[in-house]
Amino acid sequence: MTSTNDIRRSFLDYFEREGHAKVPSAPLVPHNDPTLMFVNAGMVPFKNVFTGLEHRDYSTATSSQKCVRAGGKHNDLDNVGYTARHHTFFEMLGNFSFGDYFKDRAIELAWGLVTKEWGIDPKRLLVTVFHEDDQAADLWKKIAGLPEDRIIRIASSDNFWTMGDDGPCGPCSEIFYDHGDHIPGGPPGSPDEDGDRFIEIWNLVFMQYVQAGGKIVGDLPKQSIDTGMGLERIAALLQGKHDNYDIDTFVALIDESAALTGTSTGGENKASHRVIADHLRASGFLVADGVLPANEGRGYVLRRIMRRAMRHAHLLGAKEPLMHRLVPSLVSEMGGAYPDLIRAQPLIEATLLQEETRFRRTLATGLKLLEEATIELGAGDTLAGETAFKLYDTYGFPYDLTEDALRSQSIAVDRAGFDAAMAEQKAAARAAWKGSGAKASDDIWFDIADEVGSTEFTGYSATESDGQVVALIKDGQRVERAGPGDEIVILTNQTPFYGESGGQMGDAGIVSDDKGLRAIVSDTSKPLGRLHAHQATVESGDIAVGDTVHLAIDVARRDAIRANHSATHLLHAALRSTLGPHVSQKGSLVAPDRLRFDFSHPSALTAEEIAAIEADVNAQIRHNEAVTTRLMTPDDAIAAGAMALFGEKYGDEVRVLSMGKAVDKHFSVELCGGTHVTALGDIAIFKIVSESAVSSGVRRIEALTGEGARQWLVGRDEKLREAASVLKSSPDEVPARIVSLVEERKRLERELADAKKALALGGGGGAPAAGPEQVAGVNFLGQVLDGLDPKALRGAIDDAKQRVGSGIVALVAVNDGRASVAVGVTDDLIATHSAVDLVKAAVEALGGKGGGGRPDMAQGGGPDGDKGAEALAAVKGALEAAKEAA
Ligand code: ALA
Repeated sequence: MTSTNDIRRSFLDYFEREGHAKVPSAPLVPHNDPTLMFVNAGMVPFKNVFTGLEHRDYSTATSSQKCVRAGGKHNDLDNVGYTARHHTFFEMLGNFSFGDYFKDRAIELAWGLVTKEWGIDPKRLLVTVFHEDDQAADLWKKIAGLPEDRIIRIASSDNFWTMGDDGPCGPCSEIFYDHGDHIPGGPPGSPDEDGDRFIEIWNLVFMQYVQAGGKIVGDLPKQSIDTGMGLERIAALLQGKHDNYDIDTFVALIDESAALTGTSTGGENKASHRVIADHLRASGFLVADGVLPANEGRGYVLRRIMRRAMRHAHLLGAKEPLMHRLVPSLVSEMGGAYPDLIRAQPLIEATLLQEETRFRRTLATGLKLLEEATIELGAGDTLAGETAFKLYDTYGFPYDLTEDALRSQSIAVDRAGFDAAMAEQKAAARAAWKGSGAKASDDIWFDIADEVGSTEFTGYSATESDGQVVALIKDGQRVERAGPGDEIVILTNQTPFYGESGGQMGDAGIVSDDKGLRAIVSDTSKPLGRLHAHQATVESGDIAVGDTVHLAIDVARRDAIRANHSATHLLHAALRSTLGPHVSQKGSLVAPDRLRFDFSHPSALTAEEIAAIEADVNAQIRHNEAVTTRLMTPDDAIAAGAMALFGEKYGDEVRVLSMGKAVDKHFSVELCGGTHVTALGDIAIFKIVSESAVSSGVRRIEALTGEGARQWLVGRDEKLREAASVLKSSPDEVPARIVSLVEERKRLERELADAKKALALGGGGGAPAAGPEQVAGVNFLGQVLDGLDPKALRGAIDDAKQRVGSGIVALVAVNDGRASVAVGVTDDLIATHSAVDLVKAAVEALGGKGGGGRPDMAQGGGPDGDKGAEALAAVKGALEAAKEAA
């Protein structure tokens, strides 16, 4: 038997031999088309090559493209499990010509592969052509030798291929295989064409036109070819099967799910095993391409697929989560062709286990509720929309899971009732939000969110993607379009721009299109926590609601933000390991040029602590471990040791960031919705530049990383070299030179003060300038000292008291026009004279007020530096007056 892997390889090898470039599958999330949820055909990644917008260095190509048809325009989810050929995930084999060959060569290549390379009996093949396409019909006759009755002309849109409302398109021609008259069904175009006898195996599209808004608006620059062949179908044919689920790949997965659940693969279990196998493939590949389960957008489609499979696992009697245990089989079947699957295996397993563990908590109760609600219902009845909504809201049952659960009983679900209940809940949430003091200006955000839903953030994995403009705001009002010079807010259905939240600043960048639009985004906010609002100025061109635009973030700025954000997590962990577990985050700012982290800690950090923290963080950076992200419920995450962040509102599930290595565990595990480096080495360097107090018990650290840190260190180095050159030394000698300079300066200051005092006291040795005189019966020594440092007055008074032995001394020091005065009384006179009283008289004479001290020594001062003599006279006068009074 030819394996599916062999068939894929032989298709690609055949076209490579025929001169085509072998192009690897693009990721499932389209980067070039915001109107598509997932890549749903082989030509999607080449869309812009067909229209001439993009050039590649080949003009023909072949690929095996991963496709998902669920959730978007093409949605096969409801049928999967119950039919032979519906899949949510499948591979499309294709060959492409971008203005190179056209119809004749395309037909020749296709016929050659099918009949010669693979040896399919030509008598079992027939083709359809678009009814007006005589040329194609003639070519089939000429090249394949098909008789007229096996070339069927089809007038319907079945033979005109379009990828959506916009993009390249053209008439097509399909090859059908006749499985034989033992299977009911008629050829294409016949009344019973829906039977299973004639199966389409290959679609050749003759790309010729461009569509816009569902109408042909012009010719492609060059006629081109796009073909698509479902790998699962052709594998079934080549393996002699009629049912896609009987090919080797599916048999392997189904056997594994049967073995793990101890069930048979047939009978009533058949659909469940098929659902599980198909949904396992879709889930695995979507997770590998960066989609994680969520409550909206692509992530919700993934969740619906996962939960649908999980209900079937439950139906098979699985007592434990099942899906993650099937991943090794998936990887062994398909990892060879898609190495990304091998790389992502741990993430796929963890994501499935997490989702199934979580869903199983409510699954049984929800099913019981469903059973009770349908007791009275029979085939042809409808389940109330409210019940379906309760199952959705309380038990996590996606709408289509409820539908699927009731399918076997032929009970329908009231969709309108479900939608009404959902609308009612949204209105209540809005009212509650308003009640909590939201501003009137929030109304506009609620209107937009109700109308268009949340913005899907593509920026965890992409730095640019296309988006569709869903709303524009100018001067606080919604507008339909804007032009050059306008300052506007742009909202799109998806964006790689991070909206400011969790301390991380919003992204800046450019919004553009191929018609000349260029709008500069200076910042992105995140109103209601779910809309990404780009604050932009239109530089050139026009922008209108409904336009497809290209959104590209400023990558260098974001990279700097990433480094700072991851460094913040490392800093948090290093603080806890150095200072203790009492450290908790009190706030943070992650900007492109710096990071700031506030945390609880009672005292200033010592230089040693700061050095230890820096060393810890830098050691983690040098180890360069990969950073991993997982989705968890907040409770599970906290139980697993994750640190919850300050001020953050957590939803049903959180991203858990693990980084670095400590003994037996990660260095840091945190709940965080921000964007981070892929590996810690991307941070490059971490440098703390300040540590300060914010309030009592809260400290703040500011730090730099990467280029910012490097520049800061270079700046420091320059300053050091500047200092060295002023000191005429080398940078290494600067500290020792400064120590000796400081010491020298202290010594000189001391010498200078002594010299000044000596000078003021009359020069040389402190000899008295004049002897004491007798005033009111006591010795009195008074002197005005120009330029004496007021600090030296006290010492000078003590000297003078010693000199007079018994008596009163008064000294006035005059500096810069101001006078300071001190009066001393020797101990034997304290009983009769107070220095405090005497100094007050002097102070008054100097134009000042007050003065004070102790009875033996008091000081004061005044503004009138030229009244020194008067001050001394005033002291004498006070002595006389005291004597008379006594
Ligand atoms: N693009 C064509 C299809 O998907 C080949 O059928």
